[in-house]
Formats: sequence, structure tokens, C-alpha cells
Amino acid sequence: MQADQISRTALFTAYSRGFHHTYDQPVIFSDSLAYSLLPLEEQDRIAMLLLAGFRLTNPAAAASFADTQSALGWLMQSSAAASIVLSRAQYAEDCLEQSMATGVSQYVILGAGLDSFAYRRPDLVAKLNLFEVDHPATQGYKRQRLAELGWRQPQNLHYVPVDFNSQKLRDRLADSPFNPDRPAFFSLLGVTYYLPREIVLATLAELARLAPAGSTIVFDYLDEEAFVPGKCAPRVQRMLDHVASLGEPMLTGFEPLTLSEQIIPLGLGLQEHLSPWDIHNRWFLGRSDHYRACEHIHFARVAV
Ligand SMILES: C[S@@+](CC[C@H](N)C(=O)[O-])C[C@H]1O[C@@H](n2cnc3c(N)ncnc32)[C@H](O)[C@@H]1O
Repeated sequence: MQADQISRTALFTAYSRGFHHTYDQPVIFSDSLAYSLLPLEEQDRIAMLLLAGFRLTNPAAAASFADTQSALGWLMQSSAAASIVLSRAQYAEDCLEQSMATGVSQYVILGAGLDSFAYRRPDLVAKLNLFEVDHPATQGYKRQRLAELGWRQPQNLHYVPVDFNSQKLRDRLADSPFNPDRPAFFSLLGVTYYLPREIVLATLAELARLAPAGSTIVFDYLDEEAFVPGKCAPRVQRMLDHVASLGEPMLTGFEPLTLSEQIIPLGLGLQEHLSPWDIHNRWFLGRSDHYRACEHIHFARVAV
């Protein structure tokens, strides 16, 4: 991501959640606020881009739909990105609730983008100190949008602008009301892909040093096979090409079989790992539409 550019992929993930909430049943993840956070002209711009790309790459299929809404519905459901975005969001919030049941009362959303949790789940927010950590450009965009909407910021929501590539997360959290003596829950959704490997590992290591035992981190990641020419699933290859064209290339993946070994030296232990099969069985089995878990995508829950 360039230094002063808002994350285009964060706008797209919000679009995916808003589209799903508006048009799909049953819901995998229910985000009633995603569309509000995305200005109407931005929603239209994303839809136009998606349709233009479809017509360009697969004109026969694009022409087979009776109207643009049906074409968009098929695109969203069958694309790699939307299924990842929806299932990881539900996974993170399920894990958060489990951590809260053990007494965790700090939630740090790393790379928050247009995550609507702070306004969507007042029942949980009331019991938390909440931190949204993001690149300053993306966070600035979101805060400007929230000001336009006139939504009142919860008192216990704290914004922490950080560029993971050039700033120490630990220092920035230390400047906030984050309490390093109390266990915390961290989500890192849709972020590991875009950072160099050493920054992902350094960020996880910082969290392990910063947060006490009893803290949890949830993240999603691509396996390394996705970066091997000829081995990547076609729709994942299209996603890689698309995000690169937006100026946010996916750079980093991990080997699922050795993930545990890689994080132990950082002070972290793998608590739960979900493969594409696990993800499919948990959130997609039995659906009659085109959503299915994404090849090469894994979820990890790790304990400090
Ligand atoms: C694909 S979006 C995911 C947003 C949100 N977590 C979601 O699931 O919708 C990637 C997020 O990572 C953030 N990000 C990317 N590179 C970053 C960096 N170097 N420092 C801080 N945040 C970064 C972007 O600003 C953006 O919010």
C-alpha cells in the first residue's frame, strides 16, 4: 500500500459485506451497517468496476445474465474475495465472544478498514475497551465518513493510526488507553497478505510481547501454494491480479503445516487452525447459491 493511499481493498470488503447483507439469504455474516459506511458513489464505482472487468474477461458469461443485478450477484457469490471476507468476519466475532466469556475486555481490531463492529454490536461494545488500529490514510477516510454520517463515537472506542511497515505498533498502543496488564483479543483480518513476511512476523511478535497470557490473536492468511505459478486456483489468481492492479499486491503467504513452528519462537501457540475444508464445512455447507470457501485461505487462532 502506498503511504498516502486509502486502502481500496478495505472499500471492497465493506462492499462485499453490504451486498451480502442486502441480497443474500441465509447470511454468513450479518453487517447491516457496511453499506452506510461506504458512500453511495463508492458503491456504484465498485459495482461498475466489477461489471466492466466481467465483460472484459468473460463477455459470453456476462452477456448471459438478464440484468446487471443478477450478474453482480453471481460475481459476488462466486468470487474468491467475498467468501473470505464474510467467513473470517464471523469467525473473528465468534472467537471474540468466546474470549469475552473468559473475561477478556479489550478488543483490538488491527487493519480495521470499514469494520462496523463499534456501531453494530453495542451489546458487546458496552463490555469492552475497543481499539481500531489502521493505516492513517484508511483510518482518516473512515473517520471522515463517520463524521458525515453523524454517528456518535462510543466513548470506549479509541483510534490508533499506525503504518505497520514503518511504525512500531507497540509504541502507538502504548500512547493509547490499551492496558498491557489485561488480556486482549486481537483480530488481524485481510492484512497478512499485504505486508512483507518479516513485518507480519514482527507484528505478531510485538503483540506477544505486549499482551499478557490469556490474550488471543485471530488472523487469516494465504498458503504459499497460491504464489506458485500453475498451482493457484483460478479465482484466487484473479483476486491476486485484481488487488495488484489496485496498488495493493498480495505479498505474503505461510505454509500451514509449519505455521505452528514459525510462531512458537514468537511466544505464540496455535490454538485452532481452519483449512479451506474446515471453513467450507462451518459456513458454506448446504448453501444453494454460489458461495463456497476459498481455496488457499486458512484461519488461525493463536494464544499468547
Ligand atoms: C483488505 S483490508 C481489510 C479491512 C478489514 N479488516 C476487513 O476485513 O474488511 C486491509 C486493511 O489493512 C490495512 N493495511 C494495509 N497495509 C497496512 C499497513 N502497512 N499499515 C497499517 N494498516 C495496513 C488497510 O488500511 C486496510 O484497512
